[in-house]
Amino acid sequence: MKIVFATNNKDKLREINQILSGKFEIIGLNDIGCYEDIPEEEPTIEGNAYAKSLYVYERYGVNCFADDTGLEVEALDGRPGVVSARYAGEGKDMKANIKKVLSEMEGVKNRNAQFKTVISLIFNGKEHQFEGIIKGELLDEEQGSGGFGYDPIFRPLGYQQTFAQMSAELKNQISHRALAMNKLIHFFVSA
Ligand code: IMP
Repeated sequence: MKIVFATNNKDKLREINQILSGKFEIIGLNDIGCYEDIPEEEPTIEGNAYAKSLYVYERYGVNCFADDTGLEVEALDGRPGVVSARYAGEGKDMKANIKKVLSEMEGVKNRNAQFKTVISLIFNGKEHQFEGIIKGELLDEEQGSGGFGYDPIFRPLGYQQTFAQMSAELKNQISHRALAMNKLIHFFVSA
């Protein structure tokens, strides 16, 4: 059975297909002739993930899932959250996004933060959501050069390294996205 992942990110597609090892075939948006930018205008991560899976389901009538992720900082009332990619502006400039978060957090003692990924799956016409959360702390400066996004300023609880300092392998074992993906895979494997 084929299921559409509402992404054109080849790494994400390869990763999930390797894990599922042929039980379901996960294909991308290009594979169904969808080249549009799916709007991400909802006020929550959950809403955005659902809007993306619904967009594909309504137009193509196929089983599909979409993911959405954000960094939620406790002292900033959960910001940048759903606008993590464009916190400092529509240019999606990560250096500027990090700078904005760090300046808002200057002198703030409570450094608690978490990454949250929500996957929305529409399977046989019904929606299911799978959430992955990793808790940690925000540093007051960047450390490490690996990863992407907010990785250099986020250190997961129980680790001495930021996401940008750890190996990709370790990050991919413990991350918010891995936790949500594993729940999705469990659903598929037991479906
Ligand atoms: P998306 O929903 O996967 O596109 O993620 C939205 C934004 O959240 C990205 O542009 C990044 O800024 C941030 N983000 C998502 N996942 C990660 C991560 O694993 N590490 C750091 N930042 C992330």
